[in-house]
Amino acid sequence: MAISDEYIQRLLNTVDIESVVSPYVNLRRRGRVFTGLCPFHNEKTPSFTVYPETNSFYCFGCGAAGSTINFVQKIENLDYVEAIKSLSQRAGMQMPEDGYDDSLSKRRMRILSANREAAKFYNSILSEPRGEKVLQYLLGRGLTLKTITHFGMGCAPDSWDDLKKHLNSMGFSNEELYEANLVSRSEKNGKILYFDRFRNRAMTPIIDLRGNVVAFGGRVLDDSKPKYINTSDTLVYKKGRDIFALNFAKNTGSTQLILTEGYMDAIALYQYGFKNAVAGLGTALTREQAQLLSRYADEVVLAYDADEAGIKAKNRAIEILSSTGIKIRVLNLTGGKDPDEILRKYGRERFLSLLEGASNDIEYKLLAQREKFDLSTPNGKLEFLREAVKVLADLDGAIERDIYISKLSEEMNVSKDAIQQQVNELRSKRKRYKERERVRELKRESSGEGDRLNPARNVNLRAAKAEERLITILLNSPEFFGKISQSIRPEDFVTDFNRHIFTVIYNRLSEQRSVDLPLLTGDFSDDEMSRATKLSLQGRGTAYTVAECNDCINVIKQESDKKTGVKLSELSNEEFLNLFKKGNT
Ligand code: GTP
Ligand code: MN
Repeated sequence: MAISDEYIQRLLNTVDIESVVSPYVNLRRRGRVFTGLCPFHNEKTPSFTVYPETNSFYCFGCGAAGSTINFVQKIENLDYVEAIKSLSQRAGMQMPEDGYDDSLSKRRMRILSANREAAKFYNSILSEPRGEKVLQYLLGRGLTLKTITHFGMGCAPDSWDDLKKHLNSMGFSNEELYEANLVSRSEKNGKILYFDRFRNRAMTPIIDLRGNVVAFGGRVLDDSKPKYINTSDTLVYKKGRDIFALNFAKNTGSTQLILTEGYMDAIALYQYGFKNAVAGLGTALTREQAQLLSRYADEVVLAYDADEAGIKAKNRAIEILSSTGIKIRVLNLTGGKDPDEILRKYGRERFLSLLEGASNDIEYKLLAQREKFDLSTPNGKLEFLREAVKVLADLDGAIERDIYISKLSEEMNVSKDAIQQQVNELRSKRKRYKERERVRELKRESSGEGDRLNPARNVNLRAAKAEERLITILLNSPEFFGKISQSIRPEDFVTDFNRHIFTVIYNRLSEQRSVDLPLLTGDFSDDEMSRATKLSLQGRGTAYTVAECNDCINVIKQESDKKTGVKLSELSNEEFLNLFKKGNT
């Protein structure tokens, strides 16, 4: 834990926060800060703000906040030490090697190297007799050796412990392999047995953006169930976070990605020359994945299966992708159930023409609605128009709206003005609703109701506000600490959450150490850090006075006494006496 303040300060003097953030966020300078679209939640107007002066960031939309180190942790999914390592590499600085606890990062490294060795092992089996069946299966699906090698595919032998033995011989313990989810375990007569998780399956490694093998998918060779077994969540893999083949697709220079449901589809597309194909991994598309896609592409073409489940998944994916602002196009797959089948049956040209005919998301949504109604009846026509208006009201661009309204009015033979009016009405209704929501939210915020980070805040609002102000003051004007520490101690704080933040600051300042935000990163949880960042920013550029400090202290003490007073009647005798003991020391 203890990486020296001196090192962190030196590190953050060398790497600018804006250069760390800018690969992920398109930043614009606004005076002394930078703003952009938040990479941690979906938004269309920028509320993500970077403060170079304090090496910190804050999102007014979702509340994500922290130092340069927190940013790297969050965006690259690293722990504290790993994030500092990564920043050190950027800066070309040698990180002090000892004196910190990196057991978690060591465990991660072990899993990643076990995975890498497992991938090599599975792949090597393909050229042995015990891999013949899987090799034939893959070739039988039309994959070439080149493709198989490119994706590092392989064979999990039909055995209980071939992989385990191999990795044991390389020095990996059964516990490590279990933690990597490469082996499973069961208990028999009080003895724990370890055995290979993947057996007799065609294996595909799942590789993250940094080239690490983070997980595997294994497919059966026949029709038995389950068709696929995938790695469960581990320290290096979380379902719904990664996108298959994005590590390759991101380097193609294409601003378009083709998104499929199954990774076998993405692999087939690749072989047929569509190198920008990627796949979700079994789950419905998550916000995290949508965000990831929008970071690497301007447009996503959805190439989901043509069956009912595929259509459902497609509709959800459209929902989620729309909120990132990325352009969406939807393929209408005909002649086969998924891209792999269509490619194998009809070849590349057919898929190209499907791509050309892909409708954008609005056309797709209108089409989907149209299919629901019988347009030959007045009633069906009306119902359809009602749904169509909802789709068009979603469009934020006025010109775009106008184009579709014109088209619709022609097709349905209805006056353009009438549709226009309906769309406008719906839009203003939605806008009013949003504004009311925003007001409600602001009210909730200012009353402290539902403060997720500090649940005690709303019942101790007066105290909590004073506590927060005191923290703000200390973070901005630590020179007041001498005065403040004479009259208040962390124990006086009423809410636990603020007390912990205050304790860290209090201890640091008592030791004459700096309370620069980045230095606090290692002492705080993510939540504490984001609150501390927010509080610190609230006091930017304000000149505080001793009187203000005293006001805060008085309020906190009053409230703290009140609280103790209320509680007295509820205390047991022993607790009651303890209270006085504390008071005396
Ligand atoms: P093939 O039959 O090999 O062509 O599979 P596919 O690529 O057409 O995949 P399918 O549409 O059946 O499934 C899409 C994705 O869902 C797969 O890539 C898997 O990640 C996941 N999936 C499918 N079946 C299972 C299953 O039985 N268990 C799990 N955990 N995931 C599955
Ligand atoms: Mn398939």
